[in-house]
Amino acid sequence: MINARLSMQFDVTPNIVNRVTTLVNSAYSMAEHGLWQKTVQRVQHAEIAERLERSELMIATINGEIMGVVSVETLDDNTGGFGMLATDPVIRGLGVGRALIHAAERWALNQGLTVMRLELLTPRTWRHPVKESLKAWYRRLGYAPHSTMPFDQMYPHLHDRLATKCDFTVWLKTLSTEQIFETSTRHRPQVHGRPIRQRIRVMNDPVD
Ligand SMILES: CC(C)(COP(=O)(O)OP(=O)(O)OC[C@H]1O[C@@H](n2cnc3c(N)ncnc32)[C@H](O)[C@@H]1OP(=O)(O)O)[C@@H](O)C(=O)NCCC(=O)NCCS
Repeated sequence: MINARLSMQFDVTPNIVNRVTTLVNSAYSMAEHGLWQKTVQRVQHAEIAERLERSELMIATINGEIMGVVSVETLDDNTGGFGMLATDPVIRGLGVGRALIHAAERWALNQGLTVMRLELLTPRTWRHPVKESLKAWYRRLGYAPHSTMPFDQMYPHLHDRLATKCDFTVWLKTLSTEQIFETSTRHRPQVHGRPIRQRIRVMNDPVD
């Protein structure tokens, strides 16, 4: 069973900080290959420790092992954001990524937020296959591109770390409770005869 829960202060241990930092950096180094200079890491241990402590990370576990993570934040009175989405390559395609996004959306709804935002980095002059499949996936999850800006205008201090010219596109989704747990008719991996997506348990949900 996939569990997704918000991080707590007790998660700030060397093992968990290391695991989450490595998970994010290795996932991004593969997914953003060619976009960044080789020495660039997506995140440092200190930032992960801070975010874990502030309950800004949603953690997905399978049999108690951390297999995925996503950061969540409140951006304004209506808008939540998620980022740093990463799952362990050994469980890709089993629904952990989708479970994390649903958990992030559920978290946002519980905060009284009605819109969820994500940012997608893409090369300006060529198509990155990973980014193309992410775009299609985000659309399937109900997100739509909202605005695009050159990366160097949004994050001028990081501009010289890029290996190629890039843009940042903001994607938005209006949240509704129904959308979050709607089931797909697409084929999903089965566990004991049940689609794995229906076996997702989101911790810290309010009791209905
Ligand atoms: C993006 C990411 C988090 C998805 O994680 P995941 O655990 O594979 O997520 P899911 O199992 O929910 O699958 C996501 C989608 O990809 C599809 N998918 C997964 N593996 C696939 C494969 N080998 N071929 C085709 N589609 C595949 C799934 O069908 C699913 O689509 P669906 O929900 O419409 O069925 C993961 O690939 C990752 O860590 N990527 C690197 C970091 C990254 O790019 N983060 C996002 C930055 S914006």
